[in-house]
Amino acid sequence: MTQKEIDWGRLDEIIKRHRDENWALIPLLQDIQEEFGYLPPEFIEPVAEALKLFPSEVQGVITFYAGFSLEPKGRNVIKSCRGTACHVKGSRSILRFIKKELNLEEGETSPDYQFTLETVACLGACFLAPAMMVNRTYFGKLSPPKVKSILAQYSRPKTGESEIK
Ligand code: FES
Repeated sequence: MTQKEIDWGRLDEIIKRHRDENWALIPLLQDIQEEFGYLPPEFIEPVAEALKLFPSEVQGVITFYAGFSLEPKGRNVIKSCRGTACHVKGSRSILRFIKKELNLEEGETSPDYQFTLETVACLGACFLAPAMMVNRTYFGKLSPPKVKSILAQYSRPKTGESEIK
């Protein structure tokens, strides 16, 4: 998959929706990221202009919130938990296994934009330890064979859904 062509018309529509709100920057950025999968750096200036902010203020918010990304991510974002409960249940070997399977290090995206691998401090699902998320879906009680079958499932084109498995 190649990087999406930038659709400036869609950006205008999203900005229009938020222009009249008082403090609209964060929801506006969330909408842009939802639409484009990331925040293209060339959007910072038009967004700042629309909300009468300095580009440095927009940039500051983007870098402050870990949820925002200025780089394209993979179609499937894996968040492997490295929190205490997961650590105790073997999350380090799970992460090692994911890295080996995908040939990715933490923070990397595969060249075909199929996967991005991230780690998080806690997914808030400690009862599922060791746990990970793929997009908005939680997976728990992980073992290498279970991870292998999950990754295989996401290697095919598929839309994400929100649930616990
Ligand atoms: S420590 Fe992993 S979900 Fe909380």
